[in-house]
Amino acid sequence: MIKIAVMGYGVVGSGTVEVFYKNLKSIEQKIGDDIDIKYILDLRDFSDSPYSEKFIKDFDIILNDSEVKIVAEVIGGLDPAYRYVKSLLQNGKSVVTSNKELVAEKGAELLKIAREKNVNFFFEASVGGGIPIIRPLHHCLSANEIDEIAGILNGTTNYILTKMAEEGTDFSDALSQAQALGYAERDPSADINGADACRKICILASLAFGKHVYPKNVHTEGITAVSTEDVQYCKDFGGAIKLVAWARKEEEKVAVMVCPAFISESSQLSTVNDVYNAILVRGDATGDVIFYGKGAGKLPTASAVVSDIIIAAKMTGTSKSLYWEDSSELFTVDYKSLSNKFYVRLVCSDKSKVLSEAEKCWGNLNILRRNDELPNETAFVTESVNEEKFAADCRSISEYGEIKNIIRVLDY
Ligand code: HSE
Repeated sequence: MIKIAVMGYGVVGSGTVEVFYKNLKSIEQKIGDDIDIKYILDLRDFSDSPYSEKFIKDFDIILNDSEVKIVAEVIGGLDPAYRYVKSLLQNGKSVVTSNKELVAEKGAELLKIAREKNVNFFFEASVGGGIPIIRPLHHCLSANEIDEIAGILNGTTNYILTKMAEEGTDFSDALSQAQALGYAERDPSADINGADACRKICILASLAFGKHVYPKNVHTEGITAVSTEDVQYCKDFGGAIKLVAWARKEEEKVAVMVCPAFISESSQLSTVNDVYNAILVRGDATGDVIFYGKGAGKLPTASAVVSDIIIAAKMTGTSKSLYWEDSSELFTVDYKSLSNKFYVRLVCSDKSKVLSEAEKCWGNLNILRRNDELPNETAFVTESVNEEKFAADCRSISEYGEIKNIIRVLDY
């Protein structure tokens, strides 16, 4: 009999326990042994729960119980999760986690400890909710050199952008709906400011390129500035606005960014809607491979946690953790050296003056239109331009008009 513990009984934790007991029989068949949850750690009161006798409040009980071999950490955040996971690995227990912040910030260190202690540290649930991506990237695509990864990695923002585009829903109403559906983080600012997608692309990039990519070195923009006007102009452009996280190999370094972007309707990413996520992996042998599914929510995420528990149980006594090395900030390219096309929306008193100045800076402009366009408003897409030059050009264009929003245009 294998004994495990679950730390955290929020959305993902309660889903993990639910999926575990619902499918226990087939899980035991797959493992080839009996398995049970011995402890559930949570400071709140769950005396009415059918699992009430399993609840504990003291982490040390799990840490010091030699019978517990595998622990699922679904608390989220860095404190106390980092302390707990580190000591569990050091004590020879395997850990599975859905905690993207923990993996994105401390992955290299925790993977090293797991390897030294001959235990496993798995985190399939940290990226893409129920979509299998970590293990396929590490195993099934391992014959490839990965050139690029790009994805819609946050279910909450994709839900909000879809509701804005398809139903004209106001930003804050759409966010409230996403929270009620259990998609958003406890503090949803991590969703809407791009931090959550940033953590996820850091995990994928670290795995694909072999060295830790830290969130602090990734230029990250969220979706709070996206307005219904932008959504309407994007329809004229022929596409959709998506929060895209991407990472690309650039010789010995990687370029990584998270930003809202105009995506052409010819791209498969443009039709990924609601809570769905999609991850495009460009391998040198496979070409493009796309992973698609529900990127957030109780049961999809729990599915990935329980699958990691099953694999950890089957591998007890061997360390098959994924691995990447630590790195410095020199591993990431400064985004200012990159080039992109930009959508610009502005208001001005003299449109032809602004457009001729913009053309001098950014080449041929693709002028966009929308219904109910204001007389003093204009919007266009530029040719490809260096990021640093573009920012400087915007400062000079601002003499002729007020720039209301800027969104990159990405080709995926
Ligand atoms: N808040 C996250 C999202 C949950 O919306 O994608 C899944 O990581």
